[in-house]
Amino acid sequence: MTEVTGRTKVWAILADPIHHVKTPQALNAHMRERGVDGVLIPAHVGADDLAGLVSGLKAMRNLGGFIVTVPHKTAMVDLCDEVSEPARAIGAVNTVRRNADGRLVGEMLDGAGFVAGLRQGGIEPNGKSVYLAGAGGAANAIAFALAEAGVSSLIIANRTRSKGEDLKQRLEQRYPSVPVEIGTPDPSGHDIVVNATSLGLREGDPLPLDASRLSPNQVVAEIIMQPETTALLAAAKERGCRTHPGRPMLSCQLDLMADFMGMHP
Ligand code: ATR
Repeated sequence: MTEVTGRTKVWAILADPIHHVKTPQALNAHMRERGVDGVLIPAHVGADDLAGLVSGLKAMRNLGGFIVTVPHKTAMVDLCDEVSEPARAIGAVNTVRRNADGRLVGEMLDGAGFVAGLRQGGIEPNGKSVYLAGAGGAANAIAFALAEAGVSSLIIANRTRSKGEDLKQRLEQRYPSVPVEIGTPDPSGHDIVVNATSLGLREGDPLPLDASRLSPNQVVAEIIMQPETTALLAAAKERGCRTHPGRPMLSCQLDLMADFMGMHP
């Protein structure tokens, strides 16, 4: 970081707990590399105090915006002055820009980060049929971004079927031209297979889908970053599939967040 002066612009990340976040390091380095006179600080705030802090931040004229993470992404939707349509349909906001007039504009960039990461890896989802395991927070964001990217069809397979059906309904409302189906653990027959569940984080987790049904013409993508090669990716490699790790989703999303919050020199 260069010296913080009276001219330095401020960004923040709101979370509880906060000690583990890596965004301050990443985005402060991003600003340093680009010569932005700015600093991103951690803001440890509990759910009960979120509204109070956000209302204070609205009044802070040298604030560029803030990132919102666990457990505040859902509550933030109603605290913004304006929220993008997909973010509203997903029901979560993870990036907020403060406009010059103090208006807070919310966006959800998890899914866009995933799609940008796929493209960076040379995988274009447009026109492809996609099998998506999961219907939680991350899966919702990814499903909307895949529909936005123009996939030819989307199959949602989730342990709790009702959550998959709810996601299907919201997707169909916003993207009526994208066919959405509820799937089984069998991912065969689809071009791109995505794990958007939390399975694979912990050693000994069951696989999120039936990997014995994978074939070499399929791409298998992860959202889990650690371990880098999850049991699913290892099984997919063994079956001759092209694989795509979880890391690019985050690195691409950091660039999208910086852009959205106006982190420019
Ligand atoms: P995140 O914000 O990381 O997406 P989440 O919203 O809690 O976290 O979603 C976790 C996803 O992983 C869900 O799709 C969940 O399935 P359920 O909706 O049935 O809970 C899935 N998941 C987690 N543990 C699982 C398990 N043991 N077996 C199958 N699916 C699991």
